[in-house]
Amino acid sequence: MRIDILTILPRLLDGPFADSILERAQQRGLCEIHLHNIREYSTDKHKRVDDYQFGGGAGMVMMIQPIADCIDALNRDRAYDEIIYLTPDGERLNQRMCNDLSLRKNLIMICGHYKGIDQRLRDHCVTREVSIGDYVLSGGELAAAVLTDAIVRLIPGVMNDETSALTDSFQDDLLAPPVYTRPADYQGWAVPEILLSGNFKKIEDWRMDEAMKKTRERRPDLLGEP
Ligand code: 6GU
Repeated sequence: MRIDILTILPRLLDGPFADSILERAQQRGLCEIHLHNIREYSTDKHKRVDDYQFGGGAGMVMMIQPIADCIDALNRDRAYDEIIYLTPDGERLNQRMCNDLSLRKNLIMICGHYKGIDQRLRDHCVTREVSIGDYVLSGGELAAAVLTDAIVRLIPGVMNDETSALTDSFQDDLLAPPVYTRPADYQGWAVPEILLSGNFKKIEDWRMDEAMKKTRERRPDLLGEP
């Protein structure tokens, strides 16, 4: 998979992709992440990337030209499956969308700032608009990092334990059950007896019960309950 991220703040994204699972995925050749500084594509003599909005009102709008030119340059080299715009008014991200996007080959992500990008880019270039939740970030970069992480970890070969992604919270619309490791007793805090029993059928049943209980308490909406 190849992900091209368009941003005016590429430094913000140097960190998140340089460690851990995302680092390993790139080292293993399972994904390439390329950052593009939108400002470098501006044909304006002052390298401007934003302008006042038509009709008036506070806040700048990111202009078409630098972003469109960057997308055109990328499109010349390969076909993209999706051009994603990260925006708080996009479709709210969930695990199903992550699973879906993890099967694609080439993705572009556009990070917005200020009031966002000119609507005509959204109408004519963007194929998908994604929000990572009902709160407002100061820019799309952290959202792009979240989306990239959530997608890349699902690519076969990226995780060390292949089964692990399947037991994540949300993968089957249930929250994950509690987990424990040694010691079995920490200063009187004991691990549930059942987990030490060696009875794998009972352990699986217990985990399912706990997952159901937690989901019903915290996220009844996932169970289709009010
Ligand atoms: Cl994708 N962008 C911004 N700026 N804020 C957000 C978001 C995205 N998702 C939730 N809040």
